[in-house]
Amino acid sequence: MEMDSSLDSKPEIQSATPPTEDNDSMEENSHNGEAAISSSLETDGDSLQLATISSKLLRMLEAATNWQSALVKMQNSEKVFEENDRVVSEAPRTKRQIQYPEQMREFDSHLTKTGRRSLSHSISHSSMDSNSSGGSDAENLEDEVCPGDMQQINSKGNRDFCIKNIKLADFGRREIELAEDEMTALMALRKAAQGEKPLAAAKIVGCTHVTAQTAVLFETLKVLGAQCRWAACNIYSTQDEVAAALAEQDFPVFAWKGESEDDFWWCIDRCVNVEGWEPNMILDDGGDMTHWIYKKYPHLFKKVKGIVEESITGIHRLHHLSKAGKLCVPAINVNDSVTKQKFDNLYCCRESILDSLKKTADIMFGGKQVAVCGYGEVGKGCSAALKAMGSVVYVTEADPICALQACMDGFRLVKLGDVVGQVDMVITCTGNKNVVVREHMDLMKNGCVVCNMGRSNTEIDVNSLRTPELVWLHVRAQVDHIVWPDGKRIVLLAEGRVLNLSSSTVPIYVLSITATTQALALIELFNAPEGRYKKDVYLLPKKLDEYVASLHLQTFDARLTELTNEQAKYMGLSKNGPFKPSYYRY
Ligand SMILES: NC(=O)c1ccc[n+]([C@@H]2O[C@H](COP(=O)([O-])OP(=O)(O)OC[C@H]3O[C@@H](n4cnc5c(N)ncnc54)[C@H](O)[C@@H]3O)[C@@H](O)[C@H]2O)c1
Repeated sequence: MEMDSSLDSKPEIQSATPPTEDNDSMEENSHNGEAAISSSLETDGDSLQLATISSKLLRMLEAATNWQSALVKMQNSEKVFEENDRVVSEAPRTKRQIQYPEQMREFDSHLTKTGRRSLSHSISHSSMDSNSSGGSDAENLEDEVCPGDMQQINSKGNRDFCIKNIKLADFGRREIELAEDEMTALMALRKAAQGEKPLAAAKIVGCTHVTAQTAVLFETLKVLGAQCRWAACNIYSTQDEVAAALAEQDFPVFAWKGESEDDFWWCIDRCVNVEGWEPNMILDDGGDMTHWIYKKYPHLFKKVKGIVEESITGIHRLHHLSKAGKLCVPAINVNDSVTKQKFDNLYCCRESILDSLKKTADIMFGGKQVAVCGYGEVGKGCSAALKAMGSVVYVTEADPICALQACMDGFRLVKLGDVVGQVDMVITCTGNKNVVVREHMDLMKNGCVVCNMGRSNTEIDVNSLRTPELVWLHVRAQVDHIVWPDGKRIVLLAEGRVLNLSSSTVPIYVLSITATTQALALIELFNAPEGRYKKDVYLLPKKLDEYVASLHLQTFDARLTELTNEQAKYMGLSKNGPFKPSYYRY
């Protein structure tokens, strides 16, 4: 994948769907299977905001969000949807059995010729970005042997997977079941899709974290009709027992915790380099799967209907491709969906920063002085949590708007250099590089805790600490003491990688939001009529964000206020939403 930032052509914006006269913009355009859901197509950042969604998706969502007694209703309903969306119902369904053993042999012989290293010519952008969550008691049973070198077979004789240890399957299934309980929106989608399979004939190749929560997503995609193959987007984050549970269910998964960089690309290759099976959808987190297909199998893009990308890194890569005119299929930017951003960045970090610091550094928060670098969503979450615990929080910011917000929220806005000698903790949340450098760390007081909540490991210049005069003492998992010649030590957490993903667990509920958005984006791209999407990067429409929120409201037994006709008219809205324009900032 080439990144040509010199080309800066703005994507062409397709013509907007005209608003319906009665202002009820949920009306279907029955001639092409589309449902107009907002009155205009707008841009949000670099991503285009969609104006329509497929009628199949809309029907399913309406069923799933009828949340007074949604689940019961769907279970009892014989015919939830009418089968009128030809895009999917007439699509060919692959019945042919894939010849996995032969494919394996062929691939293995290729490996013996070239060696596994031949697959690894480039460094993953995202594979090293973050570390694993938690882990389990059941892991590490067969740590010594590389899974790629082992003969693997499940209880049904299937070999089309590569994981750490199939014996962990029962543990993994329990983890997945636990996640299902919290991921009510995906479970509602499964029930809503009983009448028709919106992903029938979809062949999804996925590269995301392999955890219990993403397993619920992939198993949902399967229930919705898709065939999937799946590799990990991160070398540390795979829950081996979950991968085992999937493999035991004949799910082609290629991932284990602690992959080498070579293993990482090998696993990705095993997902796409398959005889008799070609993907037509990509679900990516970080852009590595997309990158690999571009690099090794560009012909596959002839069949690919679209890419759904979750991470900032991956979105950047897609925008670069788009601007260079090299993006050959449409893509949906899930990362910038409002619900995803708020939950992943603000609420998740607000909850997990305290847990992560407690687990790693046993910190008492009351009265501690903390510098939070960056007051975006993540910085806001971290600052709020620490303030609530009685810490004295200083904020650093480059953007005057966020800086003003920090002031209005009662934080002292400072330059890091001015407070770094007095604070007990420094937390980076900028997504930038070299925010904390050696000069800052030289000034820190004894015992200062340094950590990063940004996605990449570039925020703290950890390499500058690898010099002969400094001694590294490994204290426990994710905790190192760096000792200066005069005896001063700082406490470095997770070696500067993203702290909460390295040392804590992310609330399932947060992941449920993202996973639901990903599922809806896949359904939308797969079912979209020819020509709706150009080769560009799109945001899901506001209405779908509202659906994702509605599906999750069920958990709280919450009651939404319904606008009266008079109120809706007064506000110029449809009673069914969308309730805000795409540019609205929540
Ligand atoms: N740990 C997690 O669970 C988690 C979750 C979501 C996102 N993230 C990551 O956290 C990072 C921040 O995400 P966000 O949503 O808050 O982004 P954001 O863009 O909303 O906020 C980042 C802020 O940092 C500021 N900033 C940039 N460089 C700075 C510098 N040198 N000094 C001070 N401030 C600076 C920016 O002006 C911006 O306001 C990203 O890398 C993101 O991928 C982590």
